[in-house]
Amino acid sequence: MPNNRRDFIKKSALAGAGVLGMNLSGQDMFGQSGKNHERSADGMVKTGFIGVGSRGRSHLNDTMALKDVEIVAVCDIQKSSLDEALKMIAGKGRKAPRIYTGNEKSFEDMLKNEALDAVIIATPWEWHVPMSVASMKAGIPYTAVEVSAANTLEECWDLVNVHEETGKELMILENVCYRRDVMAVLNMVRTGLMGEIIHCRCGYEHDLRSVKFNDGVHYDFIPGGALKMGTEAYSEAQWRSLHAIRRNGDLYPTHGIGPVANYLDINRGNRFITLSAMATKSRGLHKFIIENGGAQHPYANIDFNLGDIVTSMIKCANGETIIVTHDTNLPRPYSLGFRVEGTSGLWYNDGDTIYIEGKSKNPHQWDESKEWTNRYDHKYWRERGQEAEGGGHGGMDFIMLYDFFDAVRNKKPVPLDAYDAAAWSAVSALSEMSVNRGGSLVDFPDFTRGKWIKREPLFARDEKFPVDPQRTLINDLF
Ligand SMILES: NC(=O)c1ccc[n+]([C@@H]2O[C@H](COP(=O)([O-])OP(=O)(O)OC[C@H]3O[C@@H](n4cnc5c(N)ncnc54)[C@H](O)[C@@H]3O)[C@@H](O)[C@H]2O)c1
Repeated sequence: MPNNRRDFIKKSALAGAGVLGMNLSGQDMFGQSGKNHERSADGMVKTGFIGVGSRGRSHLNDTMALKDVEIVAVCDIQKSSLDEALKMIAGKGRKAPRIYTGNEKSFEDMLKNEALDAVIIATPWEWHVPMSVASMKAGIPYTAVEVSAANTLEECWDLVNVHEETGKELMILENVCYRRDVMAVLNMVRTGLMGEIIHCRCGYEHDLRSVKFNDGVHYDFIPGGALKMGTEAYSEAQWRSLHAIRRNGDLYPTHGIGPVANYLDINRGNRFITLSAMATKSRGLHKFIIENGGAQHPYANIDFNLGDIVTSMIKCANGETIIVTHDTNLPRPYSLGFRVEGTSGLWYNDGDTIYIEGKSKNPHQWDESKEWTNRYDHKYWRERGQEAEGGGHGGMDFIMLYDFFDAVRNKKPVPLDAYDAAAWSAVSALSEMSVNRGGSLVDFPDFTRGKWIKREPLFARDEKFPVDPQRTLINDLF
């Protein structure tokens, strides 16, 4: 199927990517020597962590399963987070890392002093872009940042601009792209089993009420416990709840839109064009406060701006539509609500069903998803499923970090890059804008500046499931 010219372009692109922004004298575009960031003689991947709260420590645990990755430095501003992290590192018999702490800018010292191959950032949302930008500007070859990567459109552009100026790689740590069923469906989509994809749904439907008021005593809020937000609270209640007071939009879009973007080749032959969003009234958090703290509770008068359910509709260049839901203030079991619907069949995540015309057992009747996802199980899970067992979120976090460090080790482009980080995270800012204007249509910036037309969908290729020639036809022609 691939013609010679296409092969040549691919090889040249990879060779170019290996250079990662260095000029011939070994200086990067910021004039820094690349020497400091060359792999050390012991072959270990020198890694620094910024933020070792609940998520950072989960990454620490999964990272320590990789024997050639060394945790050389850790930065955090809370003693409790650092103490826990150091205990975990010592518990694995690993060498103690150098610690950077003291103030909110301590991470800058870490980036300046350490010769790192990679940095993992798992801090509150406000810090993602300042830290990612500082890491790339410090010359660190690979930076990985938690989700969402950015809050505003300006921040989305900062990620792209600094990535392009420095030539340093930035990966968005969107772990759901690596979920086992999500990856199996990617194989189904790419082979053409579902025909041409027409419509997708996804979202973040997770009752976060106890997370938003977490007092650090009870994981799940129990009646009689104290409601806490801000500096006295625990983990995400220290910062995430403030976003629910001030902002109204889809604050956490990437768990849904990331996998869907891979199904639709966004930034790689397709792109998001426009978005329209509406938010419901806000009732869930206030009701939770009254029921658990009483009408006299100091939080009872807080006016939460975040609508309980925010629904965004996105139109893509190739004609598909996507509905993204954000639903975090009401009682409900967890779901990311995936639905992927094509001209030959569809997957419903809720209910775990699949129907493929002419191939399902009975016409007009669902098969169980498992019957199909087992058959289309992705290479990463076939090869590393056992190793991933016990890893965060059912193993998908390990698979993701494995993929990130595979890029670092082999000096490859990251699998989910700065353009993905920008386009997926932009749903937050654009939905806020649209909600504020009563649902009016807003335009997606083209963060690739036109490169989406020719970029190839390279994420997680699985040779066992050849891509439908219809999907590659146009790229093959050009
Ligand atoms: N992908 C997922 O499944 C997933 C799951 C949970 C959280 N997250 C994301 O991970 C990130 C962190 O979430 P969390 O649950 O760990 O929050 P957390 O509040 O438990 O941890 C954040 C940590 O960052 C530290 N920090 C804050 N400001 C800092 C600074 N200036 N310098 C250094 N450290 C600083 C805090 O002290 C804390 O230890 C968030 O972006 C969140 O959305 C993703």
